[in-house]
Amino acid sequence: MAKHITIPPIEPSTLVIFGITGDLARRKLLPALYHLCKQSLLPEQFRIVGVSRRGITVPALLKTLHDSLAASGGRVDKSALEALGRHIELVQMDLLAPDEYVRLRKRLDDIETEMGMCMNRLFYLAVPSQTFEPVVAQLGKGGLNKACPHGTGGARLLIEKPFGYNLASAKELITALGKHFSEEQIYRIDHYLAKETAQNILNFRFQNPIFRRVWDNSSIKSITITASESIDIEGRVAFYEQTGALRDFVQSHLLQLLALVTMDEPSALTSAAIHRQKLALLQDILPIAPNKVMGQTVRGQYKSYRREVDNQKSNVETYAAVRLRIDSQRWRNVPVVLKTGKALREKLATIVLVFTDSGHLTGDNVLTIRIQPDEGISLQLLAKKPGFTDEVEPVTMDFSYTSAFAGDDQPDAYERVLMDAFRGDKTLFATSDEVLTSWRILENVIHEWEKNDEGLELYAKGSDGPNAIERLMKMNGKQQD
Ligand code: BG6
Repeated sequence: MAKHITIPPIEPSTLVIFGITGDLARRKLLPALYHLCKQSLLPEQFRIVGVSRRGITVPALLKTLHDSLAASGGRVDKSALEALGRHIELVQMDLLAPDEYVRLRKRLDDIETEMGMCMNRLFYLAVPSQTFEPVVAQLGKGGLNKACPHGTGGARLLIEKPFGYNLASAKELITALGKHFSEEQIYRIDHYLAKETAQNILNFRFQNPIFRRVWDNSSIKSITITASESIDIEGRVAFYEQTGALRDFVQSHLLQLLALVTMDEPSALTSAAIHRQKLALLQDILPIAPNKVMGQTVRGQYKSYRREVDNQKSNVETYAAVRLRIDSQRWRNVPVVLKTGKALREKLATIVLVFTDSGHLTGDNVLTIRIQPDEGISLQLLAKKPGFTDEVEPVTMDFSYTSAFAGDDQPDAYERVLMDAFRGDKTLFATSDEVLTSWRILENVIHEWEKNDEGLELYAKGSDGPNAIERLMKMNGKQQD
C-alpha cells in the first residue's frame, strides 16, 4: 500500500451555496467556512455566492453566523468574521425560474473577469432533496455544469443526503442528475466519513500489524455501530416526517462506517482503490429476508414526537436498529448491529468490536473506536487481579485524540468536506454504486416497516431507547441465526 499521498493544492474557486439562509448553512457550512477563513486555509482567489429565495444582506447573514458561533460556546473572532464577509455576496433568486440561472451564470462569468482568471465552480445544494432535480436541470440547461468560458476551471456538484427515498427513487435521482453532471463531478456528502476518528480507521487497521492479523471472524465475534443523539428533531418536521432514522442515519452514515471497518485492504490509499473495496464489502452484506425483518430490527419513536410534528398517526421512527450479516469468508458468522436514535440519554458515536473468547476466561476483550465525543480508541483487556487469586478483571488501554494531539486543532467534519471538495479529492464522498447498494441492503426493511406498523415502540426522551434493543443485542452474543 502506498505510504504517502500528495495533497493537491486548492485552486481558485467560487462556492455557490443554494440555501445560504437555511438550517444546514447556519449550523454547519458557514461555521466551517469561518474556521477555514480564520486559519487562512481558504484559497486566495475565492468567492462565496449565497443563493436564497429571501432577500438578505451580508451583514445580516454574518450576524446570524456570529450568534450561531457564540451559541456553540467559542469566542468569535470579529476580524475573521469580517474577512469571511468580504468573500461573500448574495443573490436572491427563484430556484425554479430558468432566467435566474442565466443571471447567475453571468455573475459567475463576471467574477472570473474581475479576478482575471478561470475558477472552479462548486454548486452546494443545501436545500431540501426534493429540489435537487429541478435545480440541477436548470444548472445543466444554463450551461453551469461546464467549465468556465476559457475552459480551464471545472464545475462540481455537492449534494447532501438522503440520496433518494428508497432504491427506486435513488436510481431515478442518479439518472436525473447524470443527465447534467458526470459521476466525476458529483460529490455526495457523508460528513461522518470526514470525522477525524473515522478517517483514522483505515490507518489503524492497515498500518498496525497487531490489529491487521486479528481483523476477521477467527478473532472477532461481533460488531456494533452506534450513533445516538441527545437532540430531538429540533423542529425539522417536514424533513423528518419524510425521512426517519433508518434513512437519515443507517442507509448513509452507519453503512459507510461499517464498510470502512470491514472492507478488505485497498491496493493503495487512493480514492478509487478505497471506493472499490468499500463497494465490494457493501455488496457482500445480505439483505434481511422479509420474514425475518421483525425479528432482526428494532424501531422506536420518542414519546412527544407525534405532538411535535402535529401528526397523531405518524409512524416515522426516531430510533432504528438492524442486525445484519456479511456474507464473505472474512466476516461470515459475525453479527453486526447498527443502531441510531434521537432524543436519547447521550450523544455518542462508537464502533465496538468484541473479540472471541479463549474458552476459559470470563468476560470480553473489546476494542472501541470512539467517533465522538472524546474521539479516540480504547482496548478493554482481561487482566489478572493482583493478589493470590486467579481472578481476572477487564482493564482499559485508552488513546484519546485530545490528550495525544494536545495543541493540534481538530477540524470539524464540514471543514474537511469543503477542503476536499475544493481540492477535488473524492475519497470521503459516496459513489452512486455505494448509495444504490446501501438502499438495496435496506429495501426489505423499508417495505416491511411500511406494511406493518406493529413493533414501533414508544420510548421516553432522554432514555436509552426502545427496550427491544436489548433483545437484538443479546442475539449478538450468538454466532449464528
Ligand atoms: C445529519 C442528520 O446527517 O447528521 C441529522 O441528518 C443529525 O439528523 C446530524 O442530527 C448529526 O450530525 P453530528 O455531526 O452532529 O453527529
